Amino acid sequence: MERLQKVIANLGYCSRRHAEELIKEGKVLVNGQVITELGTKVKSSDSISVEGNILDNNKNYEYYLLNKPRGVVTTTNDEFGRKTVLDLVISSNRIYPVGRLDYDTTGVLLLTNDGNLANKLMHPSSNIEKTYIAKIEGVMNPTSIMKLKKGVVIDGYKTRPAKVKVKSIDKKINKSIVQITITEGKNHQVKNMFEAVGHKVLKLKREKYAIFDVKDLKVGEYRKLTFKEVAILYSLVNKK
Ligand code: URA
Repeated sequence: MERLQKVIANLGYCSRRHAEELIKEGKVLVNGQVITELGTKVKSSDSISVEGNILDNNKNYEYYLLNKPRGVVTTTNDEFGRKTVLDLVISSNRIYPVGRLDYDTTGVLLLTNDGNLANKLMHPSSNIEKTYIAKIEGVMNPTSIMKLKKGVVIDGYKTRPAKVKVKSIDKKINKSIVQITITEGKNHQVKNMFEAVGHKVLKLKREKYAIFDVKDLKVGEYRKLTFKEVAILYSLVNKK
């Protein structure tokens, strides 16, 4: 038997102090009952939910940040037998990627076995910012930049407003480097957005996902998230 606030903190949901606040505010349920008593002890078979998030306290959650290389798929099982991100991140748990990156896209990718958090992060309502650096064919003009910023129509769907910054333009070789930040994650979204304004993406890297970048990781390297980083992710999906 362990104290409820300690169990919530150990599962990576938030700090013990914050867990105490949540308990006092009546946001914690044990086996469906609101618990506001701080000293309450729970056993591993008890079902705990916090702010509507079910915590599985029999399970060890793991959270990883990978600098995804080119030439690796983010599906967990590839029909063509290609290398997957799960061949790179070694875990004894059934982890999976949070969202997708294309075979030829590099950069920030989170992986976890915490389905509740992953689903919330992937849901468009979480508004998680994803920043990409795209090397594109052609020279970006102000009209195209404005269109990308306002949103372009792809398959009858208008993309949400995006942040767009031209990093460099090389007229000699007819290429541009553009930074774009979006809050959605439709399949091939960035490539399709540039395509919609007449530019082919030649190279794509996700340089940021929420608070995460991969500046301290070589391509193909990964690390575990810290307790604090997991708590930040939870706070991002629970803010309303
Ligand atoms: N948009 C794309 O087009 N590809 C990715 O891999 C990610 C976002």
